[in-house]
Formats: sequence, structure tokens, C-alpha cells
Amino acid sequence: MSHAANVRPASDPATIDAAARILRDGGLVAFPTETVYGLGADATNAQAVARIFEAKGRPSFNPLIVHLADVAEAESLVHLDARAREVAARFWPGPLTLVLPRRADCPVSLLASAGLDTLALRVPGHPVAHALLQAAGRPIAAPSANASGRISPTTARHVATSLGSRVDMIVDGGACPVGIESTVIDLSAEPPILLRPGGLPREELEAILGPLAEKGDAAGPAGSPGRLASHYAPGCPLRLNATRAEPDEGLLAFGPDVPAGAAVTCNLSPSGDLREAAARLFACLHELDRPELTAIAAMPIPEEGLGAAINDRLRRAAAPRDA
Ligand code: TXA
Ligand code: MG
Repeated sequence: MSHAANVRPASDPATIDAAARILRDGGLVAFPTETVYGLGADATNAQAVARIFEAKGRPSFNPLIVHLADVAEAESLVHLDARAREVAARFWPGPLTLVLPRRADCPVSLLASAGLDTLALRVPGHPVAHALLQAAGRPIAAPSANASGRISPTTARHVATSLGSRVDMIVDGGACPVGIESTVIDLSAEPPILLRPGGLPREELEAILGPLAEKGDAAGPAGSPGRLASHYAPGCPLRLNATRAEPDEGLLAFGPDVPAGAAVTCNLSPSGDLREAAARLFACLHELDRPELTAIAAMPIPEEGLGAAINDRLRRAAAPRDA
């Protein structure tokens, strides 16, 4: 049972300040956008992002949309080409999400983009979202504010019913005017790929970009695995439930009791804390993804709380690869 949710009216000026403070302190705030309510956390704080997955009860990590107060902020996070600039200038703020290559110095946590080298960005048009993003002063990762498997929330009441006290504050800004999620396009691909139809009609995008490819197209992402979240995996094989490691292996450790002997060890959480482990997962996988290692040996992770999502990602990474 979830207990009373902390719902505050967006019309009270103190609400935005308090919500922004929660976000800067690593907490969770549900807030209205023009599409649906988002479950927001500081995108630069991996532990805060881990809390999003915890609250949603999602048994896997999917890449999240990072929300910005304005277009200019995108420049420090991703590489924008002329095409991206044109689309952003035309449709932002609005119900459109752009997937673009992350900059090397991008401060957004790897957990927010599930370890991918791309980042999904959106500048929402809702005045409450805009005010909150501006007050928080940092990029905010936010999936739809519903528990896993539930329909997307378009009122504060939906959020309260679905997430209750698992979120630190729900900012009530009334019903979302668009009511369906943003359109997602991948602009790191050529031609651009429509990843999710949504609030911005495809035709409006195609008027500027020309025909969009679709996820299943032969010319689309099927031809370039690794682009898609579900295909993210380190280059070297991953061995699950390892209790020891060979001298030519990297060890993905968890907890205080770590076997010696690996070429290099990355401990997800020496204290055995699953939130910390989730926050560090993709950074550790990248760290251990080295050509001189024959494999990554992953110690067992408890299948509880965020452990389920960590294990899901490790199982995918360990699965046999397509050619
Ligand atoms: O309208 C919306 O977009 C709402 C509001 C809150 O902004 N947010 C939302 O987020 O729907 P979420 O996490 O429920 O959906 C994110 C979508 C997923 O389809 C995900 O696969 C895709 O964006 N996505 C995110 N990052 C990606 C990336 N780097 N590459 C490919 N797809 C990505
Ligand atoms: Mg969603």
C-alpha cells in the first residue's frame, strides 16, 4: 500500500522552489508536461536516476528522456548538426524528443541513457515544466510518471495513485493538454529513425527532414545493432554468477567479499547497496570493456529491488550475440 502522496499545487509559487530544491538534493519530483506527467530526477546524479527505476518498479533499465529548460542547454550535452538545429528551432519547446550523440564531456549520468553513446533530449512546452527546469538549473531525466506496466499519467491524481509516496513531491499542474507521449526520433542515424510516434505528427517532421525510417526497417537500426538500447553490450564476453576471476578477466564485483586475481576490478558497491550498484553499472561496464581482457566476470547480484534490473541488463549483455 502506498501512503499519502505529497501533492502540491503548481499555482503556489513556493511549490516550484521546493520542488527544485528536492531535485537538486537528489530527490524525485513528478511534474506536468504538455504530453504526460514525468517522474523527474537530476540527470547528472546517477543515484538520483537510480531512484527513478526503483520508484517505477521496472525490472529493466531503459534509456530516459532528459528534459531541458531551453535549446541552448543542449549544446553542452550532445552534438547538434545543422539538421538537429533546424528541427530543434522549429519544434522546441514541444512534444518532440531528439536522440543525438552524447558529447565526450556530457555531464549526464550513463544510467540515464542506459550506457548508450546517444542521449534523448526534450524541451517541454508546459509552463510548469519550464519553470521547474529553470529553477532546478540542471538537466532532468524523466520517464512517464507511472509504475511499470501502467498507463501513462495525465493528471496528478494518476501519479498519486500509481506512485504514491514513492515520489518526494507531485507538482499538480492540472491535466496534460497533449495527453500522449512525445514523438521520439533518432537524429544520430541517416536517414533519421522514428523510434516512437507521439504528440508531434510524423508529417510535420517529414516536411523538414524528408522520409523517416522506422525501427524495423532493413535500412534502419536492424543494420546497426548497438544503436538500440536492447543491444547495448560490452565488446568482450560477459560471464555471469562468477565467484572467481581469471588473471586475464575483468571483475565486475558486488559487495564486501571480492575474490582476488582479476586483471582489473570494478566494484558496483562495496557495501552491497543496490541503488549505488545501479548508479555505477554502465560506468563500470564501460570501464571493464577493454580489448586486452578476454571476458568480464560478473559476481552474483541479489534479485531484489534494483537488483532485478541490474541482472536483466547483465543477462542481455551475456546473451549470445547476433552476427
Ligand atoms: O512525453 C514524453 O516523452 C514523456 C514526458 C515525461 O516527457 N516522457 C517519456 O519518457 O515518455 P519514457 O522514459 O517513458 O520514454 C522514453 C522513450 C523510450 O521509448 C526510450 O526507448 C526512448 O525514449 N529513448 C530514450 N533514450 C534513448 C536513446 N538514447 N536511444 C534511443 N531511444 C531512446
Ligand atoms: Mg513511459
